[in-house]
Amino acid sequence: MKFFLDTANIDEIKRINDLGLVDGVTTNPTLVSKEGRDFEEVIKDIASTIDGPVSAEVTGLTYEEMVEEAHVIAKWADNVVVKIPMTEAGLKAVNTLSKEGIKTNVTLIFSVAQGLLAAKAGATYISPFIGRIDDLGQDGLKLIAELREVLDIYDLDAEIIAASIRHIGHFEGAALAGAHIGTIPGTLFPKLWSHALTDNGIEGFMADWETYKKAQNK
Ligand code: E4P
Repeated sequence: MKFFLDTANIDEIKRINDLGLVDGVTTNPTLVSKEGRDFEEVIKDIASTIDGPVSAEVTGLTYEEMVEEAHVIAKWADNVVVKIPMTEAGLKAVNTLSKEGIKTNVTLIFSVAQGLLAAKAGATYISPFIGRIDDLGQDGLKLIAELREVLDIYDLDAEIIAASIRHIGHFEGAALAGAHIGTIPGTLFPKLWSHALTDNGIEGFMADWETYKKAQNK
């Protein structure tokens, strides 16, 4: 599974990218708005930091607005992917943009039908929101597994980005369910490498090493 970061915060992105584990970044209007900076500037900063796809979302809701915005956003950097919401107009826009060679990430996917339509429209990526599905008392990870099965059966090229990941269980479950990519919030990522027993183990080894060194000096 490839790892994307789900944040627009450049400091978070730089810190985690330094580990060599980041394959791309996803943003959305909510994440960009938290940065209090110009949209284009934020995306250009991220795109020049990351060696991989960076999703930037359109905010227009009509077909014409989406295509017009996509043309502008796609020129910001070679690795920018245009994020399009899963609507009728969105599908039409994805169809047009894919024919023009512009990469798209269809966002806010909550069913197999939506994912299949987006993939067939020519989406490069489809983003099912597992956390928001779980919020409804349904099973977000089941959707990931079903979407993967459908894409494989029909040999469709779109890659699944498991989105709205809220905890380690979502991350691990998305990997097991066959998501091509997991997009991980910047605040969650450090929790993936941390474990209380690891910290505890290091503490124990260090304490025993100090005791050993003292004994050797005698
Ligand atoms: C994905 O591309 C979205 O930006 C994101 O995963 C949404 O997550 P949320 O449900 O936590 O807002």
